[in-house]
Amino acid sequence: MKLFLTGSFITIIILIVLFSYRQSIFSTTSLPYDDEQQGLNEQITIHFSHVVAENTPKGAAAEKFKELVEEKSNGKVVVQIYPNGMLYNDESELEALLENKVQMIAPTSSKMTNALPNWQVLDLPFIIENNEQLKKLLNGETSKSLLEELERINVKGLTFWNNGFKQIASTSPIVEVEQFKGKRVRVMGSDILHEQFNLLDAKPIAIPFGEVYTDLKDNMIDAQENTISNIFSKQFHTMENHITLSKHGVLAYAVMMNGDFWNSLDAESQKIITDSLDEMQDWQFEQAEQFNNENLTYLKAIPNVKIYELNDLTKKDWKEKLKPIYNHYEKKINNHYLEELLNEKSYP
Ligand code: LMR
Repeated sequence: MKLFLTGSFITIIILIVLFSYRQSIFSTTSLPYDDEQQGLNEQITIHFSHVVAENTPKGAAAEKFKELVEEKSNGKVVVQIYPNGMLYNDESELEALLENKVQMIAPTSSKMTNALPNWQVLDLPFIIENNEQLKKLLNGETSKSLLEELERINVKGLTFWNNGFKQIASTSPIVEVEQFKGKRVRVMGSDILHEQFNLLDAKPIAIPFGEVYTDLKDNMIDAQENTISNIFSKQFHTMENHITLSKHGVLAYAVMMNGDFWNSLDAESQKIITDSLDEMQDWQFEQAEQFNNENLTYLKAIPNVKIYELNDLTKKDWKEKLKPIYNHYEKKINNHYLEELLNEKSYP
């Protein structure tokens, strides 16, 4: 019996020693890195948060940016995209960027106007008439100066992306300007957009994009201004089935990065990022037009969706009602940007 116990004890000790050796429990040297692990140490990850669906101009642009950056950097720079407001909504994404919780966002310019009031110039109604003017504006000097203003809040402004023109979607027709009266209209959080709907005798209510669908369902709002691609991709037309192609405003995205994060990048990675954005700029504008056109075609084919156009007379009425907004911007905010924008759009 004694012999059996001693034998078992010795066997257990041998097994423990063998197992420990295998697991390197007693070893003080760490395992060598293989090539892939070495690569992970140098990898740069850009967490990119946005609030819209993937099948929209911004969603597709984010994907294209990821593809180009990862390809050009041979996988050294990785872009992780978080669409549909899954991380932050449009009220919290700027703060998350400033705190470097995410490194990149692309909010609609209107959402930057509380931090940078001059940006309201891009929200002035009927200032841009067609896609050519819009492209010129978003690639031009006014936009460049606006992006430079981001330095004041320690943010690197990279470029503008486009989502085209805002239209009116509502639960009952809004074509004549009087039909705005008393309507509860969802707006983005921007003073000038509030002012716009006040002038139209409507009741503007600021609501984050991610809550619009539920608020429509709960009958909290009657209308909103948005692009066709945003209306279609979020199925707003299932409740706001009257759509007026007013083209009264533009929806542009300011593509930006946390300033400290940007400054921490090596020159080569910074160049890869700016080169990728430059390379995709024309493509992005074409995509935006295509998304909006295709989505409009789908909407036109849905029997209970009613689409209206503004004739010249009605458009004149809308413009007349909204005229004071220009004085408001020019006198209270910044006449220099307005002048610059008006000049710029009339360049050949
Ligand atoms: C909105 O809030 O309606 C838009 O800014 C959403 C977006 O990012 O296109």
